[in-house]
Amino acid sequence: MKLKSILTTIMLTLGASLALAQNGVKIEHLGVNNTLVRVTGEGRYLLFPVQESNDDARVNVLVNGNLEKTIFVRLAKSKVDYYVPFDLEQYEGKSLALTVFTTQNRMSLREAKDDACWRNMKLSDDFDTSNKEKYRPAYHHTPLYGWMNDPNGMFYKDGVWHLYFQSNPYGSKWQNMTWGHSTSTDLVHWETQPIAVEPNGLGTAFSGSCAIDKDNTAGFGKNAVIGLYTTADVSQTQSLVWSTDNGQSFNFYPNNPVITQETEARDPNMFYHEESGKWCLVLAHALEREMLFYSSPDLKNWTLESSFGKGIGAQGGVWECPDLFQLPVEGSDESKWVLLCNLNPGGPFGGSATQYFIGEFDGKKFVADKDAQGNIPTKWMDFGKDHYATVSWSDAPQGRRTVIGWMSNWQYAAEVPTMQFRSANTLPRDLRLFKAADNQIYMASAPAAELVSMRSDALRNPSKINLGKKATDVNLPDDGLCEIALEFDAQVSHIIKFELRNDASEKVVMSYNAKKRTFSFNRENSGLSDFSQDFPATTVAPSFENSGILSLRIFIDTCSIEVFGNEGEFVMTNLVFPTKPYNKMYISADNAGAKVNSINVYPIK
Ligand code: FRU
Repeated sequence: MKLKSILTTIMLTLGASLALAQNGVKIEHLGVNNTLVRVTGEGRYLLFPVQESNDDARVNVLVNGNLEKTIFVRLAKSKVDYYVPFDLEQYEGKSLALTVFTTQNRMSLREAKDDACWRNMKLSDDFDTSNKEKYRPAYHHTPLYGWMNDPNGMFYKDGVWHLYFQSNPYGSKWQNMTWGHSTSTDLVHWETQPIAVEPNGLGTAFSGSCAIDKDNTAGFGKNAVIGLYTTADVSQTQSLVWSTDNGQSFNFYPNNPVITQETEARDPNMFYHEESGKWCLVLAHALEREMLFYSSPDLKNWTLESSFGKGIGAQGGVWECPDLFQLPVEGSDESKWVLLCNLNPGGPFGGSATQYFIGEFDGKKFVADKDAQGNIPTKWMDFGKDHYATVSWSDAPQGRRTVIGWMSNWQYAAEVPTMQFRSANTLPRDLRLFKAADNQIYMASAPAAELVSMRSDALRNPSKINLGKKATDVNLPDDGLCEIALEFDAQVSHIIKFELRNDASEKVVMSYNAKKRTFSFNRENSGLSDFSQDFPATTVAPSFENSGILSLRIFIDTCSIEVFGNEGEFVMTNLVFPTKPYNKMYISADNAGAKVNSINVYPIK
């Protein structure tokens, strides 16, 4: 034996026999990239130390020696960015061990043993979930900790709005897709619920939808909550789950999957279609950039009926997260169907966005309306950069069609300057259809009525302003958290500017161009922005023909601004990361005659 290999053998033997027992865990290094962690102490949680820049380690959870599940965690190598909890409650009284496979290409066991995760892994009875992070929104829905993308599976039942979301319970980057769950009775306050759907042998839990099976068509009981979602592994298949405890926990249907497709298909969205007496489902045929329509008598057996979208609308990226529903057209007896079609990339300002089509649906086929030139126009639901995967609640009361979106963009969602959690949802919005001057039907998204309850007394400010080149300043609350509601008269002006500023010389410049009838939003100097070259941007929304008198509702939270023009006829959602809160708004116009008819700044309670 050569000296070098003798030495290596001695080192490996030494290393392997040196088990580290501390913090209630015993760590044995089995090989260079393979470590066994035994839980030996007491505690509700095993805290995993995470370093975000590291690769994922594959962690096999062994209960009494049997493989229970596999999760992926970016275990810390040189420093700990934060901890994520692994809940041990369900394993009480059982022997629990983890085999950890790191992928860091270690040369020697000695080197692998130095990783910060081994020294810092620990048992604990609690886990710090206090909202301390600077950019944690104050009044938007966020996950308690960890990564979140698409809201999905939302339904309303017995006075409760259920919101599920794509969640990674083991880190603040996309991984381990699981359905997180929050509930609200007022669309303002959200309560975290236990995880609803976890990855299983068919795959991780991608987006889907829920509906209440009022007539027990699926056989799981009257009023059972049925979920359909994408089990995602090498293939993406559609699986059924059902709940008889109002969506707190779900059972996996043993004959899953219920739908398969040759190429990527995901995010099934189903609803009961009264006219045909059947369930209908829209499925995103992602890479084909089209939507597939299915029907079923019982939610288990699905027939492919038709497809829509090949070569239509925006085609710059994959089609995902569909929704289909009917709404009355304001001021008429007519009703129309709306097909929501999220796409990524290919949005109007780069990256992710939500387009929609107006048309007819007979239970089998969707036919889109055409414009005067005979084309199917691309319509956008929101003209900001941070509005994605928007879908609606099923079974909402009073005929409401209420939606919520993911307030981020796949271009930089994983890079935004937060750590313990990543991403918030938009404010909930109510939809309606209106006919514009071009004789076409458009969809407006207005803030849900419940949001008015967040207002405190308006700040002291001028109630009317005659605008000119010299800016008039308006006070905002010191913490910057507010809703600004104003009406302005742009009949004789060209450009009216609304500038938000803070004490760090950072600003957001919004302006209305009366000639072009456009509203724009510039966040180039809004605060932190160098985490992604795609972040600095100006976004522009068309405002439709109008009398020249417009209303705006602007919601400012710690890291987002949502602008609703004319009760949601044009909407813009943009993230911003100011280093200090915006505490002033400056309003000016490029010529005299423009007015602010009324303005109220409501601090948010
Ligand atoms: C959209 C999406 C969905 C998918 C989910 C996975 O953002 O890509 O199509 O179901 O995210 O997390």
